[in-house]
Amino acid sequence: MAQLSVKIKENPLILGIESSCDETAAAVIRGRELLSDEIVSSASVQARFGGVVPEIASRAHTDAVDEVVARALKSAGVEKEELDAVAVTYGAGLLGALLVGLSFAKGLAYGLRIPLIGVSHIRGHLAACYLEDRELTPPYVSLLASGGHTAVIHVKTETEFKLVGATRDDAVGEAFDKVARVLSLPYPGGPHVEKLAREGENSVPLPKMLKGLGGYDFSYSGLKTAVINYVHGKEQKGETWSRADVACSFQRAALDILAEKTVEAALEKGVNTVAAGGGVVANGYLREKLAAECERAGLKLVLPSRRHCTDNAAMIAAEGLIRYRAGDFSPLSLNAQASIPLR
Ligand code: KG4
Ligand code: ZN
Repeated sequence: MAQLSVKIKENPLILGIESSCDETAAAVIRGRELLSDEIVSSASVQARFGGVVPEIASRAHTDAVDEVVARALKSAGVEKEELDAVAVTYGAGLLGALLVGLSFAKGLAYGLRIPLIGVSHIRGHLAACYLEDRELTPPYVSLLASGGHTAVIHVKTETEFKLVGATRDDAVGEAFDKVARVLSLPYPGGPHVEKLAREGENSVPLPKMLKGLGGYDFSYSGLKTAVINYVHGKEQKGETWSRADVACSFQRAALDILAEKTVEAALEKGVNTVAAGGGVVANGYLREKLAAECERAGLKLVLPSRRHCTDNAAMIAAEGLIRYRAGDFSPLSLNAQASIPLR
């Protein structure tokens, strides 16, 4: 396609499309204002298999993408010809699933002669907070807690990040999903562990090894193994044990440290705001803990709504807006990427 000449607008209309895993989503924003936010999930189908089956996800996206985008445009009251750009997740995620959204977005951008903006899913999770607080501006420290990542990030400008700490092994969401399996809870495990934890007490002794790790790094593999060993030990001895107490104790051990280290990092970096993003940030206990720690430290806290913590297209549009304003567009030759380094 010939070079597009784009006159950058302050508050462009951007369509976001997300299809990296089992959610087909589309959203429209005008500047930081969210106009529509549609999502169709194949999670209930995937739950039968205890995880996401890539081929099933790809087919579900193919069936849904056209309608989800049409719905997003309609509920925003926007004709596709009015759009200024199309932002789409190009990675990280399942290749076949990503390709559905990416190909659709390319066709739309080409047909409408507007810029295509390939967005990193992880950057999208971090950008979700810009929709929640339209005044939010860097610098701030952000906690990223999802199924694939656990990290504390110093956001210096909208486009410039510095990794402060990260998990050395499993991601926190992954640990929730594995513990959920041990507790015979359905996929995805996080929300089920949270629900069960409300009925339990913090009475199961789990290692405090996370505290001993230097700097701002995390480790979840030891905690997960300790839960598995506790449950197997009790079952082998024929002793009774409480699933709710395991859920509650695990949740605290997994999440307290995230809130504590994020706030410590914010104080060390001298910023006055903490933000967060990723599926695990939908967890009510983590949200309360972050609020309490930030209040104690005199820091402002910005959390995306729960809906915008788990996968959605509004966050992809929000990151698209940052890239649009920077004039940072993607070529139509952009390919899907299974993994993208956190940077
Ligand atoms: O951000 P996300 O939707 O997808 C990735 O990009 O990874 O995160 C999914 C992860 C899953 O591991 C899921 O179990 C976890 O977020 N999660 C939760 C909660 N809701 C989702 N973990 C704890 N508590 C929740 N309420
Ligand atoms: Zn995600």
